[in-house]
Amino acid sequence: MNLPWFSVRNCLLVFIAFLGTLAIFLNIITSTHWANFKRSEILKSPSPAKMISTTTTTGPRKRNIIQEITNCYDRPVERRIEQRGEYWVLFNYVPATQKQRCFESITYTTQGDYTFLDNLIPLVERWNGPISVALHAPGYDFRNTLDSIAYLRHCLKASDLIMKYVTFHIFFSTNHIPFYSAIKPPSVTLRNFYQDNFDCYKTAPYANKDYKSLYKTKANITYPINVARNIAKASAQTHFLLASDIELYPSPNLIPKFLRFVEENRKLIEKKTKKVFVLPVFETLLNQSLPANKTVLQQMYQSKTAFYFHKNISMAKFKENDKLNVFATTKRVGKYRKWEAFYIGTHDDPVFDERFSWEGQSNKMSQGYAMCLMNYDYMVLDNAFLIHKPGVKKQRVQRIKFSGMIIKTQQMIRKYVKSQLQYLFGENDNCIL
Ligand SMILES: *[C@@H]1O[C@H](CO)[C@@H](O)[C@H](O)[C@H]1NC(C)=O
Ligand SMILES: *[C@@H]1O[C@H](CO)[C@@H](O)[C@H](O)[C@H]1NC(C)=O
Ligand SMILES: *[C@@H]1O[C@H](CO)[C@@H](O)[C@H](O)[C@H]1NC(C)=O
Ligand SMILES: *[C@@H]1O[C@H](CO)[C@@H](O)[C@H](O)[C@H]1NC(C)=O
Repeated sequence: MNLPWFSVRNCLLVFIAFLGTLAIFLNIITSTHWANFKRSEILKSPSPAKMISTTTTTGPRKRNIIQEITNCYDRPVERRIEQRGEYWVLFNYVPATQKQRCFESITYTTQGDYTFLDNLIPLVERWNGPISVALHAPGYDFRNTLDSIAYLRHCLKASDLIMKYVTFHIFFSTNHIPFYSAIKPPSVTLRNFYQDNFDCYKTAPYANKDYKSLYKTKANITYPINVARNIAKASAQTHFLLASDIELYPSPNLIPKFLRFVEENRKLIEKKTKKVFVLPVFETLLNQSLPANKTVLQQMYQSKTAFYFHKNISMAKFKENDKLNVFATTKRVGKYRKWEAFYIGTHDDPVFDERFSWEGQSNKMSQGYAMCLMNYDYMVLDNAFLIHKPGVKKQRVQRIKFSGMIIKTQQMIRKYVKSQLQYLFGENDNCIL
């Protein structure tokens, strides 16, 4: 072979030029790809499919019938830090991914510390709608609280529902700020402390039921239950709320049934009288499974495996159907005068009195008294109920341990609270506090 040297060189040059072009081309493709990837990671811009669905729901606004009936307005979800008395509150610290229009659903609002978070699993499965939880997380309880949230959002069969529906708020006293020392400034900020991932091979952080090791127990601080209740309520996005205890699980399909009830009972809802819709509460023995509907509950009641939580409210004997009805309407007087009912209400109902603690008991009495003075109707719903986490509650230990605080609470009610509420809302001799 006797090729001229310049044609070999030309061939090589062309080849190199080709490689160069190819490299540049590939680089352009991958870098735009990379840039897009990074941008979407950073900005969390929704995928095109998601953008279409959000524009259709927020786009040209057709007024919904429930919005017309209730005159509700949408409430934003913002991560923000506020003070409430002596407490710092991190509102919407870990928000649910699904936002709610005011008329779309009912928000179950509740509270506790992280050791109660196992309840969220049956709760979200039965409620299948928005849940707003305020968590008391003083001192080092803060870290276990955040770990529990991450575990719930990532490590369970119910994690998808929890991410979609549950919004977590955190609060603690200004005297018990997590990991804070005035002498040595901390290297992290609490605002950005939460990591939304978890090593699911570890055990659930909320499974630690050793109450003695909690910061709250060691520091001997009381649980400001009504601060927590008000935080959870205040940040709910929907017009209707069910302020509940985290161990009370609702009967399935309650949200669509109640919204249908509202549509079909427009006159009742629009009436100016104040009202709430009460859900009867039941307890079951420890080894029982949760009743799927009223029919099963009635059978359990007859076989004495389920009981009324409040003996003075009875279950309608009618056969179950898929509609909600009001089967009794009452005021909080007479035999109901000390009733601490659980009900579907709204943001307009009176707040819980933040002077009371869980340990001192009677913490819902002041709200009930205010509602009595305002002449609220308690409309008891049929075909819907709350069922306590299986196992009949024992309160005696609590009564003995905190008897001092219980007495103080009663004194406070007699001395100040009663006359203050009468002064604010007017007198009514039928109402009892
Ligand atoms: C805990 O606090 C209560 C009142 O807040 C007090 O009566 C009690 O003595 C305290 N116990 C301890 C161990 O500090
Ligand atoms: C449940 O417990 C009760 C009493 O504690 C007992 O009588 C009953 O047999 C138990 N039922 C089942 C299904 O284990
Ligand atoms: C209630 O639940 C039971 C058990 O899941 C089911 O067999 C029954 O059909 C239900 N009844 C009604 C009226 O929905
Ligand atoms: C139930 O009603 C009776 C009188 O009918 C009353 O003595 C009792 O205190 C009431 N219990 C509750 C929990 O309201």
